[in-house]
Parts: sequence; structure tokens; C-alpha cells
Amino acid sequence: MKPDPKKSSNAARPNGPGAGKGSSPNVSAKSPANEAEPTAGLAHTPIWLIILFAALFYWGQLYLDNHAGGFDPQVYEPYESAKLVKALNTGADDLAAKGEPLYGMVCAACHQPNGSGGALAPPLAGSEWVTAADPSRLIRIPLHGLSGPIQVKGQDYTFPSGMTAMGEVLSDDSLAAILSYIRQSWGNSAPQVTPAQVAKVRQDTANRPMNGTATWTADELLKVPLAQ
Ligand code: HEC
Repeated sequence: MKPDPKKSSNAARPNGPGAGKGSSPNVSAKSPANEAEPTAGLAHTPIWLIILFAALFYWGQLYLDNHAGGFDPQVYEPYESAKLVKALNTGADDLAAKGEPLYGMVCAACHQPNGSGGALAPPLAGSEWVTAADPSRLIRIPLHGLSGPIQVKGQDYTFPSGMTAMGEVLSDDSLAAILSYIRQSWGNSAPQVTPAQVAKVRQDTANRPMNGTATWTADELLKVPLAQ
């Protein structure tokens, strides 16, 4: 918009031909009426603001890249991607973690908290009875009990007290958890034992009492066929 020529004509020429005359001799060049009216034009966006927005946008992209998990609804902090979640998810349930406290209550008194065995029982750490790929023999030991002698890691053991039968007091779930724990602790690394595997062995040995009158011997166990 241009300044109105009529309005400013007087004030713009205070010293012009009309100066000193008229009713407003004191109008000076500094009068507000003398200034150009504000105009609406295209102001330049400050460069720092553009740079700031660019930096924010860039940071936002990086943030989403690192934290949004590829926008997968199944991925949450602190996991970065579906791939990582999958890699860390070892199974439906961490049976071994559940088994640790149970082992402490039921087995550690004889086999020791670190599985080393001792005065009352042979070692579980490194035992081939514990880590056999097929757990069919292993599951039978706590179900019905065991009477020595038994060879573990090349050494013969006989404990007159033997090992108690626990099949009546331990559920399939608890036993699966305990056995998974001893198979995955102290340097042992064997697949976990599932409750279904325990249930299957219970079924296969249904006519064997679990009251301690029918404990296994090592020779008998060695005749139980292994799948793998
Ligand atoms: C009362 C002591 C005692 C308790 C409790 C006990 N065990 Fe044993 N365990 C033994 C003895 C003793 C033997 C060896 C058999 C023998 O000499 O009569 C043995 C042998 C074993 C063996 C085979 C040999 C080896 O070292 O690998 C396994 C496996 C085993 N026990 C697992 C367990 C698990 C699992 C529990 C808990 C659910 C458990 N035991 C609780 C005393 C015990």
C-alpha cells in the first residue's frame, strides 16, 4: 500500500512552499503522520530458524530410526527391532529361570547350590545324565528315585541313602522347570525339558510306584531307549 498522498502532503513538506503557514506550523518530520504506513510484504525467514528446523527434523528422523522399532506394534523400548526381540525371545517361557528357586528348595541340599555334589550326592554340573539330548532317563530319576552305584563323569558313586522319589510331590511343570534349570546351569547347556515331556514319561512309567519302593538303578536306566 502506498502512503496516501493527500494526508502526507502537508507534513511531508514542512519546509516547502507552505511551511510556516496554515494551522499546524509545528508539524515536524518526526511526527508519526510523517512515517510511511506499515506495509505487508514478504519478510525473509531468518536463516537460523531454517537451520534449526532442519536440525530438528534430522534429529527427529534419527530418533524414530533408533526408537520406533520400525513402527512394528510388537516392538517396545528398550528393544530396537523385531529382529532383536525375536533373537532375545528364547521360548514361550523361561523354564530354567522358574526352576532355579525350586532347585534350591528341593535338590540343592544334596547336590549343592552350584551343582557340584558332595557328601550326599554326585555332581550335576557336567553330568552326562543331566545333559543327554533326550531327557527320558533324566526325568525318571526324580520321579521314582535312584539307588547307586552310578557312574558320573567317569567316576563311580554309591551313596547308601540313595535319592528319594519325588514324583508324587512335584508337578509336571515344576519338574520341567527344575530339570531345565540343571540342564542350563553351571556350564551345562542342553535343551530345556518341557512339561509335556515329563507328562509323557509319567505315562510311560504309570505302573511304577513313586513312593520310593521302586527306585531306579543305573543299569535299568541305561536300558531306557533314547531317541537321539
Ligand atoms: C536326599 C539327597 C538328594 C536329593 C534331595 C536329590 N538328590 Fe539327586 N541324587 C542323590 C544321590 C545319592 C544320587 C546318586 C544315587 C545313589 O548313589 O544312590 C543322585 C543322583 C542324581 C542324578 C544322576 C546322577 C548325576 O549326578 O547326574 C540326577 C540327575 C539327580 N540326582 C538329580 C536330582 C534332582 C533334579 C533333584 C531335585 C529334584 C535331586 N537330584 C535331589 C541324592 C539326592
